[in-house]
Parts: sequence; C-alpha cells; structure tokens
Amino acid sequence: MADTYSSYPASSPAHTGEVSRWLFRSVFSLAIATFFLMGLGSATRVMNAGLACPDWPLCYGTVLPAAQMNLQVFLEWFHRLVASFVGGMTLILGGLTVWYRQVLPQWLPRVMGGAIALVLMQGILGGLTVTELLRFEVVTAHLGTGLLFFPYSLG
Ligand code: HEM
Repeated sequence: MADTYSSYPASSPAHTGEVSRWLFRSVFSLAIATFFLMGLGSATRVMNAGLACPDWPLCYGTVLPAAQMNLQVFLEWFHRLVASFVGGMTLILGGLTVWYRQVLPQWLPRVMGGAIALVLMQGILGGLTVTELLRFEVVTAHLGTGLLFFPYSLG
C-alpha cells in the first residue's frame, strides 16, 4: 500500500505524520479498552465476585481455571486478563511515545509517563484487593486509581 508509513523514508514528514497518527489512534484504543475494563471491574463488584479467584496473580493456582469456571470466576478472571492487556499496552505505548517524542506534542510522553505510574499502582492495588480480602480502603483506592487512570489513558 502506497499510504502506509513503512513506504516512506524513516525521517520524512509523511513518515512522522503517519507515526504520530498511528500512536494517537492506539492511545485512543487503549482508552476504549480501559473503559470496558472499568465496566468489568464494576460487574465483578456488583456480582460479589471480588474473591471468586481466591489467589493472586494466578486463579486457583492456574492461568485458566477451567475446572472452577462459573460466572463469578469468569468476571474476576476476565477482569484480570483485560487488565494485563491494558497494563502491557500502556507500557508499550508509553515507551513508543518517548521513542518518537520528536514528532509528538511535548505533553504526550509526559502524560503517558503518568499513565504508566498509575497502571503499575493499579496492578498492585488489584492484587491487594484480593490478598487483603476486599479491605475497604484498598477497594476504594483501586476504584479511585481506576477513575484517575482513565483520563490519562486518553493521552
Ligand atoms: C488498569 C488496570 C485496572 C483497572 C482500570 C481496574 C478497574 C477496576 C474498577 C473500576 C473496579 C470496580 C471498583 C468498585 O466498584 O469499587 C475494579 C474492581 C476490582 N478489581 Fe480492578 N482494575 C484494574 C486491574 C486489576 C487487577 C490487576 C486486579 C488483580 C487482581 C484487579 C482486581 C479487582 C477486583 C478483585 C475487583 C472487585 C473488588 C470488589 O469486589 O469489591 N483489578 N477494578
């Protein structure tokens, strides 16, 4: 395809324009995935499924708890699975916005740096919600960090 950035010389304006457009689209997709993840977290809470996977980071000591699977286990397990995806994408996109900082608005790598800090904190708090048996302060901090992370994930 003539229009993909791989067909332009690496430092041409067309190449840098394509890179920044691709990054903006990816960051926007990350925000949509985060929104979905927050809905899943809320469903986990409403369905009283916060401890449906009693251990962490695995669930019943395995990556896929097929033998124990029911709606509650699915919600908690799927919330963690999507959270791993969102966390990984945040790290990768954050790294890419630093790598391509010359062709991006200055604020974007900084905002993505904040997003990385928040998603790491959210992962730790997610683990603590389970190991501390849904302690009120931890669940509230997990909710608060999720609400803070969402606008950051929009870049
Ligand atoms: C980017 C990552 C994450 C986001 C944005 C996120 C977001 C949320 C949200 C919005 C809720 C609903 C909270 C409430 O209604 O009080 C929730 C619940 C929950 N999350 Fe996450 N979460 C993330 C990662 C994780 C991880 C890695 C775990 C690992 C175990 C986890 C475990 C839980 C649990 C157990 C609940 C249910 C708490 C309860 O039943 O009271 N979360 N999450």
